[in-house]
Amino acid sequence: MSLLPIITLPDPVLRQKSTLIERVDDELRRTLDDMLETMYDAPGVGLAANQVNIAKRFIVVDAGNGRDDEDDDDQEEVRNPLCLINPEIVSRGDALRSYEEGCLSLPDVRVEIERPDTITVRYLDRDGAQQELNAEGFLATVIQHEVDHLDGKLIIDFLSSLRRDMIVRRLKKLARLA
Ligand code: NI
Repeated sequence: MSLLPIITLPDPVLRQKSTLIERVDDELRRTLDDMLETMYDAPGVGLAANQVNIAKRFIVVDAGNGRDDEDDDDQEEVRNPLCLINPEIVSRGDALRSYEEGCLSLPDVRVEIERPDTITVRYLDRDGAQQELNAEGFLATVIQHEVDHLDGKLIIDFLSSLRRDMIVRRLKKLARLA
């Protein structure tokens, strides 16, 4: 396995709509393993393929025990990796939950976002089998964030255009300095 470089804004691949995977094969499984390793190394809780410069519809996530409270006393490191190929959110519950999200492609940016607390997502697993998952809480938040990536949508799109433009300008400046 190997670590993959994570691209950041203003890289245009982050704004592309990614295309469907037609075949689940060993090459894809290798990429999924590399993405998981890259995500754990970052560290992050989710990664979409276009964040590693592949404009195809697959994501990896690990929401651990599903809780997002970092100062939990009995917190144990629970690994719960999930690979979702061609994920499609087929239903969303009415209740909302709010969480301050970050993104590995937007260094030092955090945005408070309200999203449905429960979702049903349909996808292919790493064996190419069709699966359906009911997710809630933190896991639901993470999956929605990653599926947004596949449509070229980023957490800054939830902000006013004024705040969004400020962040984009700062990231462009950083990219020029790099
Ligand atoms: Ni992200």
